[in-house]
Amino acid sequence: MPLKRGVQEASVKGRRVLVRVDFNVPQDAKGQVADDHRIVEALPTLRHLQTSGARMILMSHLGRPNGVRDMRFSLRPVVHRLSGYLGVPVPLAEDCVGIHALEASARLKNGEFLMLENLRFHPGEEANDPAFAGQLAQLGEVFVEEAFGSVHRAHASTVGVARKLPAYAGFLVEKEIRELTPLIDGPIRPYVAILGGAKVADKLPLLQSFLGRADSLLIGGALAFPFLAAQGAQLGDSKVEPGLEEAVHEFLTLAQERGTRVLLPEDWLVEIPGQAEAEAAPANAVPHGAIARDIGPTTRDHFFAALLESKTVFWNGPLGLAEDPRFAAGTREVLAGLATIPGRHVGAGGDSARVAQDLGVADAFQYLSTGGGAALEFVQGAALPGLSVIPDA
Ligand code: 3PG
Repeated sequence: MPLKRGVQEASVKGRRVLVRVDFNVPQDAKGQVADDHRIVEALPTLRHLQTSGARMILMSHLGRPNGVRDMRFSLRPVVHRLSGYLGVPVPLAEDCVGIHALEASARLKNGEFLMLENLRFHPGEEANDPAFAGQLAQLGEVFVEEAFGSVHRAHASTVGVARKLPAYAGFLVEKEIRELTPLIDGPIRPYVAILGGAKVADKLPLLQSFLGRADSLLIGGALAFPFLAAQGAQLGDSKVEPGLEEAVHEFLTLAQERGTRVLLPEDWLVEIPGQAEAEAAPANAVPHGAIARDIGPTTRDHFFAALLESKTVFWNGPLGLAEDPRFAAGTREVLAGLATIPGRHVGAGGDSARVAQDLGVADAFQYLSTGGGAALEFVQGAALPGLSVIPDA
């Protein structure tokens, strides 16, 4: 993937710069920011613009309010955290378009910030409605794409605005492209992908993209269930996604043809309802009434052995129910083992970065992407509309 025209090339002094950030961050039960990785990662671009004398208008979505003004999805808690980091107040415009947003953006002085309220309060955002994109574009003179997590969405704030204003990539977007590209352009081999999480139907394109590209695929978590079930395994009361038998057989045949070794769990830690302690079970013989919750110790050892010779490793998704301490060992031990192995290790997608941090194994990685679906699509080699629209460097 070529690098994009970067924000450092933009002439921004005294100009209104519309910055698309991805502050779609996890929140706790009280609505406070629970993980500010995405806010922190946007700071270098924001500080660069501030010290360059630009006037910054920040826009983001939060959650999925479906085009309705639902204040549970307000960006207020985010603005509070951001102001703390920047050391200056960042006012929040109550609406992302309209006269008040226009006036507030026109009043900005050099080095000042304004944050717009959730873009997805308007249906025009996700519909990439040209009129809505036009209203957003009126707020700025230059556009900076810093929302790597959203570049897989062809929305008004990612694609629509970029077509109407001179568009540049922010430092985070440039960094993500730099860090993720070696996973698709000539990765140093052996290349191993560790994939966990749940929905196979969603992750099938990602899994398929590794066939022939990776030397080994280590599949854990509920993602492994349909593969084992298709081979006749008894999985007790574990929830197996239905209707995937044919796709899974095809996948395994293709893997063999293309020389990608697929490692599936050989044992599980299972939950027996009403019993506090986890128990071990063979991967193909989970007792009736029990639920497979984590890869077992034999699988951990075999996954670690498969990683030993690796030079490039990609990880997405926990290998068990990592939020439950009884079922976190699989993910934690495999990633702790990975931390002892030299090579280039990148984690991406969904909650992966947060899981690694919560389990204390983030140091297994040289890079943890801020992207969820965007990073996974990037790694699959898909064209991302929010990147295609920015001129190449
Ligand atoms: C993400 O968290 O992956 C991005 O912010 C995109 O959010 P979305 O899946 O709701 O479009």
